[in-house]
Amino acid sequence: MSDTGPASVVAGLGAWLPPTVLTNADLAGRLDTTDEWIRSRTGIRQRRVIAPGEATSDLAVEAGLRALKSAEANEVDVVVLATSTPDRPCPATAPEVADRMGLTEVAAFDVSAVCTGFVYALGTAAGLIASGCARSALVIGADTFSTILAPEDRTTRAIFGDGAGAVYLRAGLATEQGALRGLHMGSDGSRSELIEVRAGGSRQRSTGRPAESADTYFAMAGRPVFAQAVRHMAASVRTTAQRAGWDMDTVDRVVLHQANARILAAVADQIDLPADRFPSNIDRVGNTVAASIPLALTDASSNGQLTAGQRVVLGGFGGGLTWGSVALVWPDLTAIGPEPLPDA
Ligand code: UT7
Repeated sequence: MSDTGPASVVAGLGAWLPPTVLTNADLAGRLDTTDEWIRSRTGIRQRRVIAPGEATSDLAVEAGLRALKSAEANEVDVVVLATSTPDRPCPATAPEVADRMGLTEVAAFDVSAVCTGFVYALGTAAGLIASGCARSALVIGADTFSTILAPEDRTTRAIFGDGAGAVYLRAGLATEQGALRGLHMGSDGSRSELIEVRAGGSRQRSTGRPAESADTYFAMAGRPVFAQAVRHMAASVRTTAQRAGWDMDTVDRVVLHQANARILAAVADQIDLPADRFPSNIDRVGNTVAASIPLALTDASSNGQLTAGQRVVLGGFGGGLTWGSVALVWPDLTAIGPEPLPDA
């Protein structure tokens, strides 16, 4: 983090989920899968999905408004939206989200880093605050992967869910609770094909040939991605704790991208921390991509697992490949979620 400019302080937290619940039993009725397979391999019991005609911006607006309310803030200099499922390929979705929130003429842009998107967006917003370009920022993670999954792909359809979460950042002091104290981001583009939507971009469109149907959907090589996720999230969390000046065993909570309950357990094992320091809501929401970390934060804050004064490291990993993490002392705030997430 910058030692010279203002620090970025988390002052509000909000989240939103579409009301439609898709259980494992629902999926088992349509695909060659079982509740037992999904629970034991991923920890997921249910996920939320948008209704026909809804889009990522609809969720982002709801989460953003809740984060502003949580912060009791009405000024926003920049809206940074992390998403890989924008409403349209062009333009970015953030300006429409800002407009619909009543934030007229603010800077607004999307960040594309798949499941690491929220961490990248936090880092970008913190940089704008440190440079003096912005005094406040709304950082939203929102995705609707239900719109890009192949209908017959039992693996991806078992994992992903839709949702949105947001934090409000304001300029402040590095010594305040809520100030971002350490940040680490990385990528490995040589493995981009492990997580991709192959068609729909300039590479395919410039051929002049229509896309193969299968290439228009999201695809993931589960096993190698699993190994990479554990390796990079564990290393990144360690690096960020070190940058914050914290010994790993003094970190109270590690809030990771909710990719798979077995990944959370493996990272806990690698960094040698007890599993109860890793709050998780994956059983109720699945993998919500860029929304995953702020949704998990909202859940943990609402159920008392996250409290003011705790040392917290957030960690993400996703397509690109990309990864990153952020350290902060948890601030005294009231998160505003859709409702307490019910047990499945
Ligand atoms: O969000 C960012 C990045 N994403 C991740 O971090 C995800 C990382 N990967 C994973 O979480 C796991 O690899 C998966 C959950 C995707 C898959 O679990 P796995 O234990 O690695 O299973 P697998 O891919 O090795 O497949 C094992 C078997 C296969 O059958 P065969 O070939 O052994 O007969 C799959 O076809 O499980 C089968 N399978 C399923 N069976 C029932 C795959 N999906 C399903 C399913 N239901 N939904």
